[in-house]
Amino acid sequence: MNKKTAAITAVGGYVPDFVLTNKLLETMVETTDEWITTRTGIKERRILKEEGQGTSFLAIKAAEDALQKRGLDPSEIDLVLMATATPDMPVAATGTYVASQIGAVNAFSYDLQAACSSFLYGMSAAASYIESGRYKKILLIGADKMSSIIDYTDRTTCIIFGDGGGAVLFEANEEGLGLQDEHLRTDGVGRQFLKIEAGGSILPASEETVKNKQHFVFQDGKSVFKFAVSNMADVSTLIMERNGLTHEDVNWLVPHQANKRIINATANRMGLDESKVMMNIHRYGNTTSATLPLLLHDYEKQLKKGDNLIFAAFGGGFTWGSIYLKWAY
Ligand code: UT7
Repeated sequence: MNKKTAAITAVGGYVPDFVLTNKLLETMVETTDEWITTRTGIKERRILKEEGQGTSFLAIKAAEDALQKRGLDPSEIDLVLMATATPDMPVAATGTYVASQIGAVNAFSYDLQAACSSFLYGMSAAASYIESGRYKKILLIGADKMSSIIDYTDRTTCIIFGDGGGAVLFEANEEGLGLQDEHLRTDGVGRQFLKIEAGGSILPASEETVKNKQHFVFQDGKSVFKFAVSNMADVSTLIMERNGLTHEDVNWLVPHQANKRIINATANRMGLDESKVMMNIHRYGNTTSATLPLLLHDYEKQLKKGDNLIFAAFGGGFTWGSIYLKWAY
């Protein structure tokens, strides 16, 4: 009997309507379209403006899109795995609410948080459940309402992030397609460079923490940039070497969308032409857990069965890694 592999069989995506352009940001903080474009590659990002709606709103839209495309009855889903760094509320898990809302009445659900690597780690978890044979259909969602944790007076962070959601369905494959290999890493030394200081168990919310703006994302961009460039490139080339892949064998790099310069550096180290690099940072900015599934959503029509995809991500924590996956449809 063939070894069971875990393949992606459907993709969905959603971004909110409101477009926050670089031009608009110029009126909010001291910045320029030119600075943002040359330093990051971002031109605009989407913001969820609907009152009272959180990350689950984005997740539900993306999940429904994926299910509708696959023509799947949601009651067949075994697990809804929710990758997010911006849950609706600290407790209870956002995924449980999403699962109920989409009609996944027979599924269990939980949230997975590894900052910008959440979705990548989620792919590993989902694939392991499928390979073990314990579950058959897993819906992995990556969604973040980053605008809920961004200080729009801080020019070093507000120009980077956007809101969005993406979802993929994982199912067993008998042809050897799907997830082939992975290399996932963490290093806790990184948490000082990218964090939200307050609102957790070390520093619970208080008048003081609100006044000090400690509930917003803090990032030491330069330090994170250095780690991201070397680590994302290292794991991506390692995955290629370990699987005997040359740049000709790789059809697509699917990189976390944090900074165009980081993506280019990774692609260069892999010897990949720009035409093989998925990119939508100019339209959405950094949507954290949603970048990878939104890339798949935007490029789905160009993908062919058997294509070799290398996923790569780097995020706060630090967390990073690379996954090699063969496209299944
Ligand atoms: O997704 C999770 C992982 N995150 C990342 O991978 C992000 C990694 N970091 C980065 O992408 C980049 O470091 C940033 C885009 C955040 C910043 O770019 P940079 O080239 O590293 O700029 P910098 O922080 O070194 O700042 C250079 C200058 C500074 O001015 P001085 O000190 O040289 O006078 C900043 O104050 O640019 C200034 N600056 C800005 N100027 C105009 C910082 N932000 C802005 C801005 N507009 N928005």
